[in-house]
Amino acid sequence: MWGRPPKAPPPRNRADAETESGRPRKDKVLTGHKTFLIKTYGCQMNVYDSTRMSDVLAPHGYVETGDVEDADLVILNTCHIREKAAEKVYSELGRIRDMAGARASAGRDTLIAVAGCVAQAEGEELMRRAPAVNIVFGPQVTHRLGALVARAQNGERVVETEFPAEDKFKHMPLARRATIAARGPTAFLTVQEGCDKFCTFCVVPYTRGTEVSRPVNEILAEGRRLVDAGVREITLLGQNVNAYHGQDGRGRACSLAGLLGRLGEIGGLERLRYTTSHPRDMDDELIAAHGEMEKLMPYLHLPVQSGADRILARMNRGHDAARYFDLVAALRAARPDIALSSDFIVGFPGETQAEFEATAAMVERIGYAQAYSFKYSPRPGTPAAELGEQVPEEVKAERLAHLQALIHKGQDDFNAACVGRTLAVLLDRKGREAGQLGGRSPYLQAVHVRAPEALTGTIQQVQIRAAGPNSLAGEIASHPDRRADKERPEPRKGDGGGYRREDARP
Ligand code: SAH
Ligand code: SF4
Ligand code: F3S
Repeated sequence: MWGRPPKAPPPRNRADAETESGRPRKDKVLTGHKTFLIKTYGCQMNVYDSTRMSDVLAPHGYVETGDVEDADLVILNTCHIREKAAEKVYSELGRIRDMAGARASAGRDTLIAVAGCVAQAEGEELMRRAPAVNIVFGPQVTHRLGALVARAQNGERVVETEFPAEDKFKHMPLARRATIAARGPTAFLTVQEGCDKFCTFCVVPYTRGTEVSRPVNEILAEGRRLVDAGVREITLLGQNVNAYHGQDGRGRACSLAGLLGRLGEIGGLERLRYTTSHPRDMDDELIAAHGEMEKLMPYLHLPVQSGADRILARMNRGHDAARYFDLVAALRAARPDIALSSDFIVGFPGETQAEFEATAAMVERIGYAQAYSFKYSPRPGTPAAELGEQVPEEVKAERLAHLQALIHKGQDDFNAACVGRTLAVLLDRKGREAGQLGGRSPYLQAVHVRAPEALTGTIQQVQIRAAGPNSLAGEIASHPDRRADKERPEPRKGDGGGYRREDARP
């Protein structure tokens, strides 16, 4: 998929950003009437970063386009989590190089930039492997994008992958209200970046660096700005979001539960979510918040990776299966209807059949509303890649198929149990057919409902009439005459091998 997710149409005009002080930026404008396109891979943090890149480019006269052949600047915001994700970038770069060649014959220049975690991990090496690339920049220098583009326009091949001392968030313009409004009623807000956990399979601590939390006031200002422009639901993001410990106005550390409480005070903000959490940082205060905060949605993505203690130890996860079951019990005691989600890796080095079966048993015992599962992919530079006992590909494939069948069964059961219930749905997008809108239940299920466009951005009570593997269909409870026959639930989508299916937003 090109560009940001479908809910984010291109900005309407080119000077579409302001400084943090709210004044339009007139300085450092490079050129007018240039177009750009961002293709985003990987996790929600990349989706958020792509949004901020758009906001950085806008005051430099760049307008977003949905057509890659029309783009003067193409940015691939990349993911390094598994080999497949990283390799995708090179095949995509081949296609863009050919397209840039065709544009050059027509007298039009194209700049090609690679951002995100592949850029951070490969830096100069990426420049060598892909000579058509003009700019390689890591996730920590997004605020410098305007200057990087200017240097590339002067013929320089630019690589910036250091972790600068300055806070990039303080140097990025916030989008204008109209731009935020055009992006729809749900928004991501990164509150924490990086990771110090060093799970032995994972590249994130190397690509995103050490764990850093943004200050409370900066987050509140961004949150208020979003809500003021019409956002009704904010998902707080972090590679390890529940390790959040940003400074409050008095210089004291604030926990994620504390931050959620502060954001919950913003009038007009209806819903809060956060992702991704680590079981080790799931403290009592945060668990209690699930029982106490009405705005905190009853859905939690809490990756466990494996159900076998020996594998969890080899992964350096820092907890065992019993601790995870205890956490789930505590969460369910605080909020009985909480829907749970997780990530699983099958075929970690040395994983026996019995250990895999412990993972399968965990999936059945917990009853996830949904979950993601992946074949272990050895990543260069990570400790697990050096372990012996790599599991053969066909065994991994078999285990993955088995686990996914169980996960899908759990998801089907969870969705089916919603039929007949009335759920509060935030209508946040156009439906697939005229007269339809799409939205999200409190449990993050996609819900299709017949409703006039004017209801976009509102929360409606929806009577659920039908359930499919990936979505629900229903009718607005206040209009019992509206029938749901035409609202078909979505068929199941493939695993896709990505961290997140592009439309799934836990
Ligand atoms: N911070 C989150 C997840 C980050 S990466 C956490 O701690 O859970 C997202 C998911 O990708 C992980 O949960 C894991 O299931 C998967 N993943 C990470 N590295 C992987 C690898 N080398 N092979 C296969 N899956 C991997
Ligand atoms: Fe990777 Fe998550 Fe482990 Fe950090 S906690 S190393 S991001 S899997
Ligand atoms: Fe996200 Fe992929 Fe980087 S999952 S943090 S974009 S390696």
